[in-house]
Amino acid sequence: MSEDRLIAFGQRGLNHFQNGTQDRVDQIFQVPAENYTNSEIWDSEINNVFKRLPLVLSCSSELSEPGSYHSLEVLGVPVLVTRGEDGNIRAFLNSCTHRGAVVVPEGVGTSRRHACPYHAWTYNSQGDLVGVYEEEHFGEIDYECNGLVELPCDERAGLIWVTLNTNPVVDIDTFLCGYGEMLEFLGLADCHVVGRQVIEGPNWKVAYDGYLDLYHLPILHRNTFGPEGGGHAVYDSWGPHQRATRPDVYFSKLEGRDEKDWLISELVGGVWTIFPHVSIAGFDANGKVYMLSQLFPGATPGSSTTIQTFLHTEPPDEEQADVVKKQMDFLRIVVGDEDYFTGLRLQKALQTGMKDFVNFGLNEGGGQRFHQFLKELLNKTDDEVAAFFKESTEN
Ligand code: FES
Ligand SMILES: [Fe+2]
Repeated sequence: MSEDRLIAFGQRGLNHFQNGTQDRVDQIFQVPAENYTNSEIWDSEINNVFKRLPLVLSCSSELSEPGSYHSLEVLGVPVLVTRGEDGNIRAFLNSCTHRGAVVVPEGVGTSRRHACPYHAWTYNSQGDLVGVYEEEHFGEIDYECNGLVELPCDERAGLIWVTLNTNPVVDIDTFLCGYGEMLEFLGLADCHVVGRQVIEGPNWKVAYDGYLDLYHLPILHRNTFGPEGGGHAVYDSWGPHQRATRPDVYFSKLEGRDEKDWLISELVGGVWTIFPHVSIAGFDANGKVYMLSQLFPGATPGSSTTIQTFLHTEPPDEEQADVVKKQMDFLRIVVGDEDYFTGLRLQKALQTGMKDFVNFGLNEGGGQRFHQFLKELLNKTDDEVAAFFKESTEN
């Protein structure tokens, strides 16, 4: 089924390439400029999107061993993701049962025990409390009930989703709208995490708009990868999750060949986004390097932080390290000095309050879909969210 979907997308992309056309929607769409600047809207996005839906926080391949963990702070929430001795992935609020200290410092590592730095209460990789220093001061401790607070967590397609809320409103498969099995084609579970860098940017939607926008590629990126092709896009979507691909760059090589001979590796090119905050793009570099960009709102409506994690299909060695380093430097320029440089200036201009709207053209259907979905989601109650995802899967 999902392979049919890849092939159908390849056929559409090839047709667009042959005809010099691209996907177009029926109407121009305007987004109020204040959606990028207003702090009430921004608060609502944090609470109704980022703290209500599953977010991609880690990579399976980086946490493959029992006891491996990833500690990070997301939107002010300290999170600990671990793989237990039983092989299952779990996530916790990284806050000690005793008096709340952050137990595991930020970073990635492997440890079967985590001792709190404050008074040494200790937890195992399943989040259970397993040791209390001078236990006699605490009477009868029920170890079973005093583990770390668990957060909803799921693993699909080599990625780990965590919800920053103990009461999830949507399960992972409803949330993914069938996209999880498509993401499997990227093979991220078998890749090696080979690098990570952080880039500061504008309002999270200004940044996310850029990942869905291929129109700008030959213009803004003319000094980097822009000239590889034109600014035409073909889109596919699974609810709010979208894929955007340049027909001329990725599908021209399918021309004149029987569909039976098309390779999966030829059909997965382009940008794969995961609502509300992730983009994945692959680059050829002694095998393939994927850049997983996790975008998080910053401390103000006008700021965001993007964590770029690089995953390589090949195991790391010295030669690969050099290739990856060059790729990371290149992508820091593309995203930092081109996309986010432009985005931060755009953000300032919108913050003047003198503009009413920004415009998304007929060729910018990806951005349109994102803003339309977001707008509706913000108005849904918790009870309505799962139904909304189901409904949007069907459209
Ligand atoms: S706060 Fe963790 S042991 Fe006291
Ligand atoms: Fe860009």
